[in-house]
Amino acid sequence: MTAARRNISLLGSTGSIGEQALEVARLHPGRIRLRALSAGRRVDRLIEQAAECLPDLVCVSERSDESRVRSALGAGVRVVSGADGLIECARLDPVDIVLNALVGARGLAPSLAALDAGRTLALANKETLVTGGPLVAAAAARGGGRVVAVDSEHWALSELMEGRDPREALKVWITASGGPLRLVDPAEWASLRPEQVLRHPVWSMGPRITVDSATMMNKGFEVLEARWLFDIPLDRVDAVIQPEALVHAMVEWGDGSWTAQLSTPSMALPIQKALLGERLQPTTARPLALLEIGALRFEPIDSRKFPCFALARRAGEEGGTFPAALNAADEVAVEAFLAGRLAFLDIAPLLGRVLDGHDGRELREPGDVWEADREARSLARSLL
Ligand SMILES: NC(=O)c1ccc[n+]([C@@H]2O[C@H](COP(=O)([O-])OP(=O)(O)OC[C@H]3O[C@@H](n4cnc5c(N)ncnc54)[C@H](OP(=O)(O)O)[C@@H]3O)[C@@H](O)[C@H]2O)c1
Repeated sequence: MTAARRNISLLGSTGSIGEQALEVARLHPGRIRLRALSAGRRVDRLIEQAAECLPDLVCVSERSDESRVRSALGAGVRVVSGADGLIECARLDPVDIVLNALVGARGLAPSLAALDAGRTLALANKETLVTGGPLVAAAAARGGGRVVAVDSEHWALSELMEGRDPREALKVWITASGGPLRLVDPAEWASLRPEQVLRHPVWSMGPRITVDSATMMNKGFEVLEARWLFDIPLDRVDAVIQPEALVHAMVEWGDGSWTAQLSTPSMALPIQKALLGERLQPTTARPLALLEIGALRFEPIDSRKFPCFALARRAGEEGGTFPAALNAADEVAVEAFLAGRLAFLDIAPLLGRVLDGHDGRELREPGDVWEADREARSLARSLL
């Protein structure tokens, strides 16, 4: 029996995850049909992608780009824009899976819309769970949608949890490669330039997540994500540096035994599993030649060296709107660092001051996230 072709809406198709998802679709054309694509600034690339995939709907971030896209693609493709356009992509019929590969807090609203509409949400946009974890669970319960993780660590945890009850786990561990600065002398960190930080030794990713990997904010956010994805208390989720970047997650079980997931670092595996629902060849991921590796090392994350990791945990412990505020401030700080307006070592102190100044409240509805986001951005900008 041949498996059904899945209808996919791909939000953020022009980014690093988006392009890798298109690669998966090219490898499995009989299994994947792209119904919607979306872009931010790379409108020309979106037009090329649409000419290749023939979607029903495309979304650009600026309304002023709509007419250019319309005339390039002709009448067969509907063109929408902005935040409302992303929601349309998330709710489009007949879509089975919404792959959210947007960067930033803008990803939360389309994620909630997809779950409310009963879709499977293949979730790369980590800001969705960081900023709105409890809202995501409520939307899934309300609309009948479900979340599938598209991140190597959370995909690895899902593999380890398959057929198990997450409550049996004493502790779950996600790993970090150590990021772009693992081998850079901390004495040089005061004068780091964006191009040095953007050179990640293991992963080729968008600029925001690459800077967040250098500060380890990314790993802190992933701890918060794991907490919501598997409904595990925060004190039972932790992270460790695994410099070979081959072990992506581990679970410590109640009987003292551990299980671990290993593979070569590649986002193709989580994307394929989310879109196809099974492990399939062909894949662009290289097979793991474990016997050639020799040794696997594990190193603790030093919170004095990486204060952002501790700040993410602190925001998670405070709960409510604190993680949304931290994320918004981090978006501002990373943008300022990339523009040469904030020194690398000033990122964490700025974020600490935003958390100190945040008037946190409970998360009852998306509006609570938007409000905290607005306030934190404004406070962060005033501190630059
Ligand atoms: N890359 C990875 O390996 C990886 C792994 C795990 C998780 N993630 C998570 O996945 C998400 C995407 O990461 P990425 O590395 O793929 O980021 P990226 O390369 O920066 O791509 C982000 C996507 O969002 C779009 N976008 C940006 N601003 C927008 C706006 N104002 N309106 C609409 N669309 C906008 C971009 O469009 P344009 O490019 O056209 O501007 C692009 O399509 C992030 O949450 C990240 O943390 C990434």
